[in-house]
Amino acid sequence: MAAAEHAVSEVVEAEGHLIDSHIMEQIFDAVVETGGRFEVEQFVIGRTNSDPSRLRLRIEVPSRQQIEKLMPQLLSLGCVAVESGDVELRAAERDKCAPEDFYSTTNQRTEVRFNGQWLEVENQRMDAMIVVEEGTASCRRLRDVKAGDRIVVGMKGIRVVPESKERDRLAFAFMSNDISSERQVETAVGQTAAIMQQVRREGKKIIAVAGPVVVHTGGSEALSRLIRGGWIDAVLAGNALAVHDIEAALLGTSLGVRLSDGRQEQHGHRNHMQAINAIYRAGGIRQAVEAGRLRRGVLYECVKANVPFVLAGSLRDDGPLPEVITDMNEAQDAYAAQVRGAGVVLCLSSMLHSIAVGNMLPAWVKIVCVDINPAVPTKVSDRGTGQAVGVVTDVGLFLGLLADKLETK
Ligand SMILES: NC(=O)c1ccc[n+]([C@@H]2O[C@H](COP(=O)([O-])OP(=O)(O)OC[C@H]3O[C@@H](n4cnc5c(N)ncnc54)[C@H](O)[C@@H]3O)[C@@H](O)[C@H]2O)c1
Repeated sequence: MAAAEHAVSEVVEAEGHLIDSHIMEQIFDAVVETGGRFEVEQFVIGRTNSDPSRLRLRIEVPSRQQIEKLMPQLLSLGCVAVESGDVELRAAERDKCAPEDFYSTTNQRTEVRFNGQWLEVENQRMDAMIVVEEGTASCRRLRDVKAGDRIVVGMKGIRVVPESKERDRLAFAFMSNDISSERQVETAVGQTAAIMQQVRREGKKIIAVAGPVVVHTGGSEALSRLIRGGWIDAVLAGNALAVHDIEAALLGTSLGVRLSDGRQEQHGHRNHMQAINAIYRAGGIRQAVEAGRLRRGVLYECVKANVPFVLAGSLRDDGPLPEVITDMNEAQDAYAAQVRGAGVVLCLSSMLHSIAVGNMLPAWVKIVCVDINPAVPTKVSDRGTGQAVGVVTDVGLFLGLLADKLETK
């Protein structure tokens, strides 16, 4: 017979915008759903809109097993055990191999207590380990773990600071964690433009993640205007966006369909291969621009404005173009390098690339996800990217309105 279990208690504290971000309610629910009880030992409400509230809570659950289930949930809601002590570290025995009880990160701002000091974890992202070295702590993907790295294990000495609801009405208040409908497109465009202006003032980057639908829907002209106007700091895409953009620039078609009247061109099925071939003949996209062969379009504007672009490969690709990175680890690294320092990421009609980028970002980087299918923005926000908002509309329409709003030429 199993030994009788004893009730286990723990005192935790949390600080932040606990009421209007509904965090306190979630903390209480988590305790009750685990079969536990709580007692509020102290609650100090923030007196102004910028003051944080403070909560001290005694929790009691029927068994150790339940506290082990509950603590990770409370941790992600910003609770830290009062008697947390220092973080526990264990050395990796081999490359790409973590101790079995490693702590897996969220995309929320995280701190670890080391030698009695709280260290902010650098390069925050989800699904990583935390490595502590020489008084710093940083996120490390499993594939980057090296033998001997000191990795955070267990749940002690870790503090997560959940993003709270925006206080300034400008930011994401308009549709935070919501999917806006077609009727609200103009409002969403206005707010997106305002966020882009704010991100610019803060000196952070604006990143565009784009799928080929941008070209099919006639949105590449507007995206080109945004790049020319200095509104985009990097374009992250795949082979298809580039191929169709170049096909449109060289031949006026997108997958053989004439952009001018929407009709299929005779023998148009070969056009995208002709575009790829033209780039190979020129020696690459930059060379095609420099030689005057490529004279318009998203990639042309990137080369002209010195805006970096990264093309990540996929199993679907034709060609692919010479710039496409076909090693997926390398492609992820190249995307990650560009999103560092981003203030907002515009995800424009690519499920694959939008979700991939969502997984790389810390929770405080905003994402505007534009897709005709509401499931895509939902998926981007579900994967822990709490700051993602969705605009369900045609991407060509959205981009046209956005470029007009920002008065690009
Ligand atoms: N010939 C090729 O080389 C080729 C062709 C297609 C795709 N690919 C590659 O396959 C990968 C996935 O491609 P993807 O990102 O296009 O596919 P995806 O399925 O991941 O995303 C396409 C998204 O566009 C949305 N969409 C469709 N019409 C829309 C509209 N009018 N307005 C707004 N959103 C709309 C869809 O709902 C979908 O979410 C990429 O790496 C791409 O480069 C290659």
